[in-house]
Amino acid sequence: MKKTQNKYTNIKSTKTEKDANLGIRLNKYIADSGFCSRRQADEIIKNGRVKVNNIIETNLSRRVLPDDKVHIDSNPIKQSVKLEYILLNKPKDTITTVSDEKNRKTIMDLVKTKFRLFPVGRLDRNTTGVLILTNDGELANRLMHPKYQIERVYLAGLDKPLKFTDAKKISQGVITEDFKSSPCEIVIDPSDNSLVYVKLKEGKNREVKKIFETFGYKVKKLDRKSYADVTVSGLARGEFRRLTKQEIAHLRKAVKLI
Ligand code: URA
Repeated sequence: MKKTQNKYTNIKSTKTEKDANLGIRLNKYIADSGFCSRRQADEIIKNGRVKVNNIIETNLSRRVLPDDKVHIDSNPIKQSVKLEYILLNKPKDTITTVSDEKNRKTIMDLVKTKFRLFPVGRLDRNTTGVLILTNDGELANRLMHPKYQIERVYLAGLDKPLKFTDAKKISQGVITEDFKSSPCEIVIDPSDNSLVYVKLKEGKNREVKKIFETFGYKVKKLDRKSYADVTVSGLARGEFRRLTKQEIAHLRKAVKLI
């Protein structure tokens, strides 16, 4: 990261110029903590009572990032962050990232939110279906951790019908070139044996494709049907909605947060 002069404080910072537009305004940060209103926060800032990272800040345009430390008269101020939980029906040709340096279409172009959200795991560019995004870091980390064995169900469209002998081997666990997959459930569509449902519980990178590649199959289409039983039923591709209270509680329970 390039060293830049922070235009708000004249203090050398390791943050990039881009960070100047990130974070939230100091008065909002203070108001969100419940300490006072935004207007009162402006007065407090102007009066030199606010420190950011131990340096008095009087600039009303100052923005702060989550790891900045804010004090008023030496009292620590903690912003109470609203937690947001989004379910996206990811379409093809969309990158699972919060920003793409090549300016390709990302999941964030589809989700309208004022929060900085992060995807729970990643789907490949052309994989479609269930993708959860949240700023609840604890829940996201647990959902992605193999320890909690969260079920992901995929429908894979293969380049040829899956042989029953290969399906059996896959269901018993496979050594791919990158990882060893655990035993999993495989269901072949009886009317088209190249369509296969796979239920996995670990979330390794490109796991479905690598499992089938090990047996000489190419995954031509991949759709995630569910994540911890959450589905996108009722959402068109590219559409999103907020998770319901029941869904959030279900996810929290699945990772032992309640
Ligand atoms: N497995 C894959 O190979 N790709 C995905 O996008 C998700 C799981």
